[in-house]
Amino acid sequence: MHPTKDPTEEAQVPAEGETRRDFLKIIGLGTVGVGVLGVAVVPAVGSVVYPLSHETVQGSNQLITVGKPDLFKEGVPTKVDLFADRVDAWNRVLDVKIGSAWVIKEGDKLTAYSTVCPHLGCSVGWDAEKNKFFCPCHKATFAKDGKCESGPARRGMDELAVERDKAGLVAIRYQRFKQGTPTKEPV
Ligand code: FES
Repeated sequence: MHPTKDPTEEAQVPAEGETRRDFLKIIGLGTVGVGVLGVAVVPAVGSVVYPLSHETVQGSNQLITVGKPDLFKEGVPTKVDLFADRVDAWNRVLDVKIGSAWVIKEGDKLTAYSTVCPHLGCSVGWDAEKNKFFCPCHKATFAKDGKCESGPARRGMDELAVERDKAGLVAIRYQRFKQGTPTKEPV
């Protein structure tokens, strides 16, 4: 006697073709899911990583125009403020002050020094009576040519490149350097 066949048993075993179709459907849905997730996640990750991998100040290490050559008097250090656009992943702020420089004219030559003290970053001023630069924070002094004369600074004032832009105006290449080191190391 044959055992009686349960009619539902056959229905529970999927045909070979169906199994493959189901598998392909799952793979297809998974791919779409990963694609959608990727579309959502990649820009989010990019927006977080972008500021870490890009300069956030346009003008940093770029030429910044400061004015006509006759702005500077012979032999007298003149302080100029440097402006550039500040840009990051979320904001764009135009014409922001990013630093300052002391500019000295000697004949046809212009020399610029960053006002950032190479010791710990205070602002270096010019003492006209003593004819030297000084930093009030820890009393470093610097000669007119930027050399450190006294105090804790381990190097002289940081010289910045002075050039002429396309219109013939004086332009300074602004850079920041590590503080407290004996040599200039751009940051
Ligand atoms: Fe200028 Fe210390 S920060 S002497």
